[in-house]
Amino acid sequence: MEIQIKSLDDLKKMRRAGIVVGEALLLMKAAAKPGVTTLELDSIAAQHLRDRGAISSFLGYYGYPNVLCASVNHEIVHGIPNERPLQEGDLLSLDFGAIVEGWHGDSAISFGIGEIDPADQKLMDTCDESMWRGIAAAKVGGRLTDISAAIQGYIDSQGKYGILREYGGHGIGTEMHQDPHVVNYGEPGLGPELVVGMALAIEPMITRGSATTKVLKDEWTVVSVDKSNGAHFEQTFALMPDGRPFVLTSLDGGAARLGALGVEISSLVE
Ligand code: MF3
Ligand code: CO
Repeated sequence: MEIQIKSLDDLKKMRRAGIVVGEALLLMKAAAKPGVTTLELDSIAAQHLRDRGAISSFLGYYGYPNVLCASVNHEIVHGIPNERPLQEGDLLSLDFGAIVEGWHGDSAISFGIGEIDPADQKLMDTCDESMWRGIAAAKVGGRLTDISAAIQGYIDSQGKYGILREYGGHGIGTEMHQDPHVVNYGEPGLGPELVVGMALAIEPMITRGSATTKVLKDEWTVVSVDKSNGAHFEQTFALMPDGRPFVLTSLDGGAARLGALGVEISSLVE
């Protein structure tokens, strides 16, 4: 499949989807407390889609049964919401996608429920920062794996973490998953040239142990085989016509986190 190049108009629509996703993740994070179930979080997200006139990117995707992926502790990604109450100390990853006028936004966050193991917090902080460094490394005229190398370089600088190999980021636009696939490891300077109008979902997935995973019998939930806890962060960003990035699923467009890395965001949206 060719890489879909978006016009400014297309990217403005993707921004509308991105805002719905960013808002829903914040609503769910605020509601996620001990005793709350991930199915309740799924309902909050479904209601938010209705409130905003958006539809789910996930529901029905290869038969996926919900609008949310909720993965707890050694579940790393693609967990199906269920009736188990969240407990103090859990590490929760939420992954959510929305469609507005045919354009997708896709984002994920990980956070702790109540007080958590400091090593789990470090795992999440490392995963989150690696994602931002990956986005910051995406320059017009550069190459796709500049992103991959920046992600791995940061993770490896922080300790011994397992970086999932079987899953990665992706192009996104009028489909949730488009070319190119974006791996979270490897050498810079390879792959397609980064050009204006590309939109990519960047999503590192790491564990405190081995990167070896398996899929549970529910055919979705990806767990670490060594049962080590995992973290997952994801944002959808675009290279805008002014040559700068804009993080479509971040409510501030990425201004704060990219600014901290010395990258100015595009002023073409909003
Ligand atoms: N949002 C996931 C990704 O980042 C995909 C979710 S799988 C689904 O690529 F089935 F839930 F849609
Ligand atoms: Co994704």
